[in-house]
Amino acid sequence: MERTIIKTEHLERVYATGAVKTYALKDISIEIEEGEFVAIMGKSGSGKSTLLHQLGLLDKPTKGNIIIDGNDVINISEKERTRFRLHELGYVFQSYNLIPELTAIENVYVTPMARNLKKEEYEKMAEEVLTAVGLKDRMYHYPSELSGGQQQRVSIARALVNKPKILFADEPTANLDSASSEDVINLFRKFNKEIGQTIVMVTHEKDEGEKADRIIWVKDGLLDTDK
Ligand SMILES: Nc1ncnc2c1ncn2[C@@H]1O[C@H](COP(=O)(O)OP(=O)(O)O)[C@@H](O)[C@H]1O
Ligand SMILES: [Mg+2]
Repeated sequence: MERTIIKTEHLERVYATGAVKTYALKDISIEIEEGEFVAIMGKSGSGKSTLLHQLGLLDKPTKGNIIIDGNDVINISEKERTRFRLHELGYVFQSYNLIPELTAIENVYVTPMARNLKKEEYEKMAEEVLTAVGLKDRMYHYPSELSGGQQQRVSIARALVNKPKILFADEPTANLDSASSEDVINLFRKFNKEIGQTIVMVTHEKDEGEKADRIIWVKDGLLDTDK
């Protein structure tokens, strides 16, 4: 049975910069099923990142509602939202945001470590997920000793180590060459197929969007139903 994991109702996000108001999202109602790999596509400035930030609880809409896994995530406390972000959601961005002073495995286990797990436990979790992204032989390397594609794979491992309900990615291949980009998308596809990972990915690459189960097209802060 398909189960809705994300539902938005009439999302609006207005940015007010001085006297200027930008309606980044005007009225977005979508549903995403558990286990779906969804791409969000549209022109630059269409509202893709803003939409992803609302779904990922990195920002709050000015109007509308968001239900994640049955929880009204707009009207819960900041503390609950933080718990949700830490335990239920994972993020991959265009920049890898790795800590340069930490090895790959240390970068990956920072979050499980913060959950008061035993060292053997969080080390094992990090090792497993780094193996799954193909970096078993690079675990003790520092970010500066890794290629861009490898660094992005570390950041994917870090996003997945806590087994989040949803993985969010905003243009994860924007800084990568075409071969590394393909690796990243294939990894997403693999985690989606093998462990049923729900993935919501913003991309502007048509061929990447086509590897997802479904594309949500956005135009001027609205769903683009002409696509
Ligand atoms: N923090 C912000 N303050 C003001 N305007 C913003 C902010 N972030 C985005 N915008 C504006 O909102 C619109 C949508 O931006 P964004 O969601 O980043 O688009 P995309 O990711 O599709 O390129 C754009 O017009 C952008 O300039
Ligand atoms: Mg963007």
